[in-house]
Amino acid sequence: MRRILAIETSCDETAGAVVVDGRRALSSVVASQDELHAETGGVVPEVAARQHLRALLPVVRQALRDAECGWQDLDAVAATAGPGLPGALVVGLNAARGIAYARGLPLIPVDHIEGHVCANWLGEREPPLPALALVVSGGHTELLLMEDHGRFRRLGGTRDDAAGEAFDKVARLLGLGYPGGPPLSALARRASERTLRLPRAWMRGSDDFSFSGLKTAAAHALRVGGDGRPARDAPPPAELAWAFEESVADVLSKKAARVAAREQVRALLVAGGVAANPRLRELVRERSPVDVFIPPPELCTDNAAMIGAAAFRHPEAATDPAAPLDIVPTASRGGLRLAAAGAAVRYG
Ligand code: KG4
Ligand code: ZN
Repeated sequence: MRRILAIETSCDETAGAVVVDGRRALSSVVASQDELHAETGGVVPEVAARQHLRALLPVVRQALRDAECGWQDLDAVAATAGPGLPGALVVGLNAARGIAYARGLPLIPVDHIEGHVCANWLGEREPPLPALALVVSGGHTELLLMEDHGRFRRLGGTRDDAAGEAFDKVARLLGLGYPGGPPLSALARRASERTLRLPRAWMRGSDDFSFSGLKTAAAHALRVGGDGRPARDAPPPAELAWAFEESVADVLSKKAARVAAREQVRALLVAGGVAANPRLRELVRERSPVDVFIPPPELCTDNAAMIGAAAFRHPEAATDPAAPLDIVPTASRGGLRLAAAGAAVRYG
């Protein structure tokens, strides 16, 4: 049995968890910075990094307490090394290094996107491989062929905005808070008329996505003026929210289902913050030709349990915490570059 203490600080959640054998989360503590960033309507990187510094140790202590685990019970420490905000990543990775060094434990750097995918291993059923993974978050929209743990081939992704980013931007147009996904989705459910249709970018002939046109179409439909507010005679906000959510969920689910059939995978895995969206969950389950796995909503949005789940799959990536180790803020277009940090994650 391997117990991994995992830390995640890539964006705006400070998270800690203890995970056993990559399959069972003994604890998962998430300190959200949402309120802090609601004031600015988005994440200010420097503000996020400072808040991670304040929140991290209490979060780690809580994760150990919830897991009824002492430092001596741990076998390794893991942290997200990228992609993410540089200043935010540095806080979590260095804290993990410090803990690993002090306790004489190996340190495992983890890829955030692979973490999202591995949240699907924390449920009761284990996904069969090969699988197709649709990762939809605030920063990423990726369609990945997962041949095995650590062996991914990137089939496609967004050419502009990430799906979650589009949710956040349209929510902002509607005067909803940050992050915009949950309030926009709640508003959509209150739509009485369900006839408004916003465009869908199918990106035919590719496995790519595009959401910036949809965002512009939403702004048009609302006839947003120079003051950034919708016109008075615009469609009701709930209808617009419904039409937007419908368009995003339609494209994501239809393309994922089609690619899953074409690639003859054994399962379709959905992950990332937008995977918490009820309409997307429903449509994917309805359309997929193969078994569908989607983590519970709290494991879709950023958390550390998923980082512990991914770390378990990469014992070969364990490093000496005394050795220099850098963050990897950007995923190259071909995918992850954690190879630079010693991990065996390869995309494309
Ligand atoms: O995975 P995540 O927590 O952070 C990133 O790695 O980016 O994803 C956050 C994104 C935000 O854009 C948020 O608006 C979106 O996920 N999101 C949702 C829902 N819950 C979170 N989008 C649509 N419906 C939801 N229920
Ligand atoms: Zn994420």
